[in-house]
Amino acid sequence: MSELPAANPLVEIRGLGRSFDAGGGRVEVLRGLDLDIAEGDRIAIVGQSGVGKSTLLHILGTLDHPTTGTLCFRGEDVFDRSREELAALRGRFLGFVFQFHHLLPEFSAIENVMMPGLIQGVDPGQMRVRSEIMLQDVDLAHRAEQAVGKLSGGERQRVAVARALVLDPPLILADEPTGNLDPSTGDQVAELLFEMNRTRGTTLVVVTHSRRMADRLGRVLVLKEGRLHTGDFDSTVA
Ligand SMILES: Nc1ncnc2c1ncn2[C@@H]1O[C@H](COP(=O)(O)OP(=O)(O)O)[C@@H](O)[C@H]1O
Ligand SMILES: [Mg+2]
Repeated sequence: MSELPAANPLVEIRGLGRSFDAGGGRVEVLRGLDLDIAEGDRIAIVGQSGVGKSTLLHILGTLDHPTTGTLCFRGEDVFDRSREELAALRGRFLGFVFQFHHLLPEFSAIENVMMPGLIQGVDPGQMRVRSEIMLQDVDLAHRAEQAVGKLSGGERQRVAVARALVLDPPLILADEPTGNLDPSTGDQVAELLFEMNRTRGTTLVVVTHSRRMADRLGRVLVLKEGRLHTGDFDSTVA
């Protein structure tokens, strides 16, 4: 018998709770949420505005801490770690496609794409080559030297995508990645994410209001009353 031990899931969330103090009371946004994500999964998270989708994605990205519950990456409890360890883990493990997440407006497009690698200590020459290729992939090679603050919203979003993908992270978290884009640019950004999934097995977790996007991702989870439910796109918009 050549039985391999069962691999840990890429992500395991148990009993996740997050509440906020607001006004006179406490708002419980996430209430004992469980989720397993396998390597290579493509997950759409859908739900009405204000149900906690961004809150969940921020915790998944270790940018926010839960009130209760655990988050494990490949079997290791993430919130056991120090701030420095968490920052290093984020750099290696995660790509964020949030609204212009951490883009530096006064720096050029290519400098922005290079930044995560430089922070991780990757050789600058190697990082420049990789970043040029990423900018070609998002059709922005001709804007590489332009300051990000002078780019359009759609162009900035594509810089953000290039920046998220450049270090080839195993897990991509995207919050409404096509929300502010015209349909054809939106399709281009979505296609880039799917290509990473197909060719490199990159795991995708995408919060979306787009039926097209949700349908293409395949596994649709509905966030409702603080937990995730298996569902379909229509159960949210109804
Ligand atoms: N830092 C915060 N402080 C107080 N309330 C917050 C904070 N972040 C989110 N919330 C509240 O949590 C709820 C869920 O927000 P959010 O996760 O942004 O929802 P969604 O992304 O699904 O629209 C909202 O009621 C929001 O006001
Ligand atoms: Mg949101």
